[in-house]
Amino acid sequence: MTNEISKVRAREVLDSRGNPTVEVEIYSGNQFGRFIVPSGASTGQFEAVELRDGGNRFHGKGVLQAVKNVNEILGPKVLGRDIFDQEGLDKFMIELDGTPNKAKYGANAILGISIANMRLAAKNKGLWDFEYIGDSKRLPCPMLNVINGGSHAGGDLAIQEFMLMPIGFDSFKDGLRASVEVYHQLKKQLKKKYGSSAINLGDEGGFAPPIDTARDAIDILIASIKDMGYKPEEQFYLGIDAAASEFLHDGKYHIDGKILARDDFINYYYELVEDYPILLSLEDPFDENDFEAFGDLVTKYGSTRAIVADDLTVTNVERINTAIDKGAMNYLLLKVNQIGSFTEAKEAFDLTKSKDWGVVISHRSGETEDTFIADLSVGMGAERIKTGAPARSERVAKYNQLLRIEEYLGDEAQYYNKI
Ligand code: PGA
Ligand code: ZN
Repeated sequence: MTNEISKVRAREVLDSRGNPTVEVEIYSGNQFGRFIVPSGASTGQFEAVELRDGGNRFHGKGVLQAVKNVNEILGPKVLGRDIFDQEGLDKFMIELDGTPNKAKYGANAILGISIANMRLAAKNKGLWDFEYIGDSKRLPCPMLNVINGGSHAGGDLAIQEFMLMPIGFDSFKDGLRASVEVYHQLKKQLKKKYGSSAINLGDEGGFAPPIDTARDAIDILIASIKDMGYKPEEQFYLGIDAAASEFLHDGKYHIDGKILARDDFINYYYELVEDYPILLSLEDPFDENDFEAFGDLVTKYGSTRAIVADDLTVTNVERINTAIDKGAMNYLLLKVNQIGSFTEAKEAFDLTKSKDWGVVISHRSGETEDTFIADLSVGMGAERIKTGAPARSERVAKYNQLLRIEEYLGDEAQYYNKI
């Protein structure tokens, strides 16, 4: 069987918000690997460049230039390369691009090739993607975003995500089932309390109710957990992603109907965490440039809680090193398209692990039917995965893939059910 890249093909397809995105196929003989690149809404300022065409077509969001960069520039240059030399391929493309943030050819073009190649290599060896990625047999704890706010919904709730974390279960399958039960109970509760418009869904499949404050969102989640007979702080914990840069305006945080200066906002978290010990994971609690405020939370709660960096670190080794110097996190949110190649995402993972910190593999708010991140989370051995509510098939597809992997691993599967 040949192991050289013989053909590269990209096209424009649609993501879960109906926006164009890049799909790439890489061939070796008649075998191919495919990947569809996802896309964020609350994108960090320091993310690698997602090339968009501008103009009127698709409201400026077309990706024909990125597709052309794959089909006419990068593709022809990678022909003949060894499909098992992932690092060589990624470094070659990074060098060809030549910019620090993939601005020339687009992270969406480069990542498409990078992951499609990895898929092809796994297929060529007859392995599942997760087996090709690594030796781990750990199933991540899902973080199910069941109440959507911020830029993923149309309401007043500033905090972007409220997530269920089924920690106290023996398997991924059981944790997922219990989460789905709570999700449906939450739907009933929201409808009763706020009316039928409260159960409309946000971009990540969570409900987007007219709730104004984080406390109200957390209260109704706890009530739904209890309704189903599950124990808060034993079986279920909660996580939030504030995506705080999105509601920082003129140096002040606009949240829960208040306008808070930075130090008052630090106090806001102190009070929230003291009042809700169920809150186990806090992602992007502050602006993406405020390493010091992140560090403040790590100092106070780092031994018992996950302080997760997403927009702060954008899966970028340089930014993670700054976070290490400043003690600004103890969990990395890893999104492959923030950095734009598998090799660099792996470097970000390894650097984080060198500090014994945890990793959450994450989807984007603009997702697709592609399930790669499910395999990535198991292969790398990440502690957690964030891939939305158990609704909307672009989210559920990842959970379904994890169910398949857990079944395939049988007794060897280990569900990460630690706090
Ligand atoms: P995004 O949101 O994909 O819109 O950036 C996800 C997140 O902030 O974690
Ligand atoms: Zn985030």
